[in-house]
Amino acid sequence: MTAHPSMLILLGLAAVGVAVGDDGNQHLKRGGWLASRADVAPVANATYSEECGSCHMAYQPGLLPSTAWRAILSPDALINHYGDDASLTGELRNEISAYLTANAADRSGGKRAQKFAESRAGADGLPRISANPYFVKEHDEIPARLVRDNPEVVSFSQCNNCHRKAAEGDYSEREINIPGHGPWDD
Ligand code: HEC
Ligand code: HEC
Repeated sequence: MTAHPSMLILLGLAAVGVAVGDDGNQHLKRGGWLASRADVAPVANATYSEECGSCHMAYQPGLLPSTAWRAILSPDALINHYGDDASLTGELRNEISAYLTANAADRSGGKRAQKFAESRAGADGLPRISANPYFVKEHDEIPARLVRDNPEVVSFSQCNNCHRKAAEGDYSEREINIPGHGPWDD
């Protein structure tokens, strides 16, 4: 009488084993330890998300060093923010500046922090994540057809158009999906 239910349990376990084996363990890993291995710590300041996340995603503070965030957050730079006006009241600016600099790439121990701790400016003189040497090296094989000339992407500044889990700070290759192209195999 007791042999029958335990047989069912064994069969159930075998079925799970097959499902996991079929896709090379991906699902097991995604639900487990890999899910928490973000490249940079996710954004954890509501004021910053609200004020700086409307024209592009609110970039994680760990994507730029503190000197770069300070330059971007200066009142003059905010008035002419990469061609837009992103000016803030003094109070908001102080809160956001304190949050970004305290959690900047040179202040955090994230997996990619050291690589993003190097600051480079774009043609307009403002620091850019997308001008960082590590960033350039990772993206230089992607043709303009899939970025600037792709209406669903437009610019490298729109990280989350290609990195499906950018908001969680996960930029791993398996979470890339370029609109009109799909996953990236190089
Ligand atoms: C009114 C719209 C707007 C707001 C609000 C805004 N930005 Fe931007 N931001 C832009 C534009 C436009 C660009 C340039 C995008 C491009 O080149 O495609 C940009 C670019 C950036 C970049 C460089 C991205 C790269 O390519 O590396 C950073 C960093 C940045 N913004 C930070 C901020 C911060 C911090 C705030 C809040 C204080 C903010 N932005 C608010 C419009 C905005
Ligand atoms: C046009 C789509 C696209 C956009 C936009 C984009 N990326 Fe990427 N990113 C890629 C692709 C594709 C790769 C993988 C390149 C390779 O393996 O050769 C990549 C790789 C990366 C990597 C390295 C991942 C790893 O595990 O090696 C990081 C980090 C990264 N991107 C961050 C960013 C950030 C931050 C932004 C926005 C400022 C951004 N990306 C914008 C497509 C994009």
